[in-house]
Amino acid sequence: MTIEKCINEYDASEMIFEEGSTGRELFVVLDGKVDIVKNSGADRTVIVTLGKGEFFGEMAVIDGSARSASAVAAIAGTRVMRINHARFVYLVSQQPAFALMIMDALSKRLRASNAPSPFPILLSNDVCSLIQAAEDVYQIRFKNRAANAYLVRGSKRTIMIDVGLSSNYPHLLECLQHLGIKPADIDMVVLSHEHLDHIGAAYHFNGRTIIAAHRLAANKIMLRDDFSMLRKMFNEPNVPIDIDIWLEEGNLIDLGNFRLNVMYTPGHTSACISLFDQDKGLLFAADTLMPGGVMGGVFGSGSIADYIQSLERLKGLDSKILLSGHGRLSDTPHDDVRIAIQRSHALLSDTAQLFDALDARANFDPIMQSVRDLNKLDDS
Ligand SMILES: [Fe+2]
Repeated sequence: MTIEKCINEYDASEMIFEEGSTGRELFVVLDGKVDIVKNSGADRTVIVTLGKGEFFGEMAVIDGSARSASAVAAIAGTRVMRINHARFVYLVSQQPAFALMIMDALSKRLRASNAPSPFPILLSNDVCSLIQAAEDVYQIRFKNRAANAYLVRGSKRTIMIDVGLSSNYPHLLECLQHLGIKPADIDMVVLSHEHLDHIGAAYHFNGRTIIAAHRLAANKIMLRDDFSMLRKMFNEPNVPIDIDIWLEEGNLIDLGNFRLNVMYTPGHTSACISLFDQDKGLLFAADTLMPGGVMGGVFGSGSIADYIQSLERLKGLDSKILLSGHGRLSDTPHDDVRIAIQRSHALLSDTAQLFDALDARANFDPIMQSVRDLNKLDDS
């Protein structure tokens, strides 16, 4: 086997190996980035992103066990060298520096896996976990399709950011009760955008507390745009949600010891906001930025170009903790946003390449005809 045959090149998001698969090979990153990913149900968590000179797959090459995580190329042009078991044994037996490097990596990974999470779990049941993100800041992470909900208990005011699905409301209350909070203690519910997995339970708060959302989200929620489709998708009851305050970029939500700046961050939809506490470095980014740089998708009113601009704005923040709409809490927001920007550019160029490659001219004719028909209407 020549060295050249041991080197593979991957496109962005291309699978190198899958969790649970078998294979006795060690991989070394020659160029690009590789995400090591764990899947749990619908959740996909990037454990670590490896760059040039780093290696992975060392457990399977030693003991032949099934892969404990998936490896996915994070950017296009990622080149990876495969070292099979025979080569590995040769290198370990003949090159003490190589053997020490492998031992060093294994001991670091063992220590990391034993290290306590910086975010303590206060409560966990079949439906959700209550996790402390910072002092007086809590994540309620649902184990079904609902988005994460957050509670921020300020010295003057207490707010929630997103509330998850209506069906989870009893469990939301259980988490609040664990913190000694009653629904009546919540001064405001801020909705990050219009998607029902974030806002489904909001009607329970109508008439009890103030509900706020970006003006475009508020308009969609009040006029029930896409409501029927999303209601079916998430199996939610047919109950309207009233928005009391229509937010804008630059608004400030002052909780006393927390000061949350409202940032308009469109892309996932046209109506997304992020909240940022500059003093504490807390970034509530909903579906705009997720741990590991996972993108929230570009839906109906969204735009990938808007998404990139919003991520660039988030990149400029001095954030310390990322509190997303889905997935775990992250203490590496700068890495997360860097990867998300790379991925969003890759998505943009993949789409452009696809349209360049396809001969789709004929399919644009009916669209252009409808434009001509509209012009005719204007003439008459
Ligand atoms: Fe969403």
